[in-house]
Amino acid sequence: MKKQAPFLYILILLSTLSCNNSPKQAADMPNNDGQKKWWKEAVVYQIYPRSFKDSDGDGVGDLKGLTGKLDYVKSLGVDIVWLNPIYGSPNADNGYDISNYDDIMKEFGTMADFDVMLGEMHKRGLKLVMDLVVNHCSDEHEWFKQSRSSRTNPYRNYFHWWPAEKGKPAFRPGSFEVDGSGWRFDSLTNSYYLHYFSYKQPDLNWENPKLRQEIYAMMNRWFKKGVDGFRMDVIPFISKDTTFPVITEAELKEKYNGAWDQYMASGPTLHNHLQEMNKEVLSKYDVMTLAEGAGTTKATAMNLVDPDRKELDMSYHFEGVSLGYLPGEFKQMDPAGYKLTEFKKIYSDWDSVFADKGWGTVYLGNHDQPRMLTRWGNDAPEFREASSTMLTTFLLSMRGTPFYYFGDELGMSNIKFDKIDDYRDIESISMYEQIKNKGGDLQRFLNGQKIGARDNSRTPFQWDASANAGFTTSTPWLKINDNKKEINVEAEEKNPNSTLHYFRKMVKLRKDNKDMLVYGRYTLLDKNNPDVYAYTREANGEKVLVLLSFSKNGGAFNLDKMQLGEEWINNQQPLKVNGNTISLQPYQACIIKLKTSAP
Ligand code: NOJ
Repeated sequence: MKKQAPFLYILILLSTLSCNNSPKQAADMPNNDGQKKWWKEAVVYQIYPRSFKDSDGDGVGDLKGLTGKLDYVKSLGVDIVWLNPIYGSPNADNGYDISNYDDIMKEFGTMADFDVMLGEMHKRGLKLVMDLVVNHCSDEHEWFKQSRSSRTNPYRNYFHWWPAEKGKPAFRPGSFEVDGSGWRFDSLTNSYYLHYFSYKQPDLNWENPKLRQEIYAMMNRWFKKGVDGFRMDVIPFISKDTTFPVITEAELKEKYNGAWDQYMASGPTLHNHLQEMNKEVLSKYDVMTLAEGAGTTKATAMNLVDPDRKELDMSYHFEGVSLGYLPGEFKQMDPAGYKLTEFKKIYSDWDSVFADKGWGTVYLGNHDQPRMLTRWGNDAPEFREASSTMLTTFLLSMRGTPFYYFGDELGMSNIKFDKIDDYRDIESISMYEQIKNKGGDLQRFLNGQKIGARDNSRTPFQWDASANAGFTTSTPWLKINDNKKEINVEAEEKNPNSTLHYFRKMVKLRKDNKDMLVYGRYTLLDKNNPDVYAYTREANGEKVLVLLSFSKNGGAFNLDKMQLGEEWINNQQPLKVNGNTISLQPYQACIIKLKTSAP
């Protein structure tokens, strides 16, 4: 993995209506190797609830709004909804700062709204995966209020405190802080507390068994309610070296991955904690778990998902989404863009990690990343549809569970704000202030944010071409992209060739051909081709060829001895075949069955 600026936030890091989760039968619990599982076969659709649909006119998406749009979600053919945090929160980091794990954020509605939403999802055969944010909570959580009140409070050890009489604690990064520090001084008890993100997000002390039991009890409560899984926020961060040895900023910069893993995350207790969590919670239900595998590498990821270890089911890595940024800088794209050959290598190498054991994931966008179209395709009007459907073809024809971000099915693109005032994300705002304080180049920062900022993918969903895109009746919490005029559900439903219809077609193709497209062997072809990503998928003695042009110049592919059979999907007819050579149009994508016998 390329080195990235280390002190910034780089997480570059069944149901039926009535179904409360029932305990699993022993026979349902073999290890995963070679095992078919519903979460392996699923397409996950991630919804950023703040931006999906506002039902009460306050400019913020909410649960009732979402519930009203479940027929749309179902119509996509997806199986699982992953919802970003909806718990009680003062919203310093859009819900990733939880003040009450058993409540619903006021802007989003009530627990009764949640129950209706979950029931309506299950009625439609959709499963719900919630975000589990337990590396940290909010400084407004009762645990923290108690903890900070005195050094002898029973909750004191729920967090990491450093008494000031020992001097200043060793430097640790605080990603969303203008001064970059992960420690904050609290005069009430003359101590510092640790927060890897903003000071509003104090880190929980997982070395305290009482805290762990509280978390497991909370998870059990949600599973008993019937939720179908958790995506676990920065889960490797829960285990760190709590002696807090000195490590300088320079050292951290120098050996980012090593230092991070050694001192700050993936610590020696991580797997004990996850095995304990599995035993006390996860093993009791038929649910899916996904680690946000921040900092994990090809060498360490298996430890999280190896079925024999009984920890989690899947993890997602950051190697793919880090490609193309300049090393050592905050989200500045390499002017030359990213190299397709490197992209292919990353996804192929990660596929091989899980080829025989465990299970992988694939994604190109989420709420922490820009829009996939802008970042990995080409959002110029003439290439938008082609490159967007090409990326969809990639995501849905790879092995591993695809995590598809809402709005990508419409071809939504980055909003590319010009001014810092338009941003709402704590990451962009604090980094701007940090650069300003250092007298850095603010224009360069803003230009970089047009590609890399998280708010690019958090803009409201575009339902129609009206002033507020059918998202709200009042002022939206974040501006809506002007391209709502062409890019919206209403218009795309009417156009049989839209990216929306293509997405549905591609989801159906994956589901109709699970042996091949979900489980089948993956083989990269023509790895040095600079324009075309080509691979085969193979199962039961049959093979398909996937061809994806990642270039505005199209690209060529040599068939060698392969013989083309039936075309399964093609985002741009026709496929130009001349002898052994296929000439792809810009961003053309197709999947073609191969005739098994070569000439
Ligand atoms: C990862 C989440 O995906 C991101 O949105 C959040 O800011 C940090 N973790 C802190 O919780």
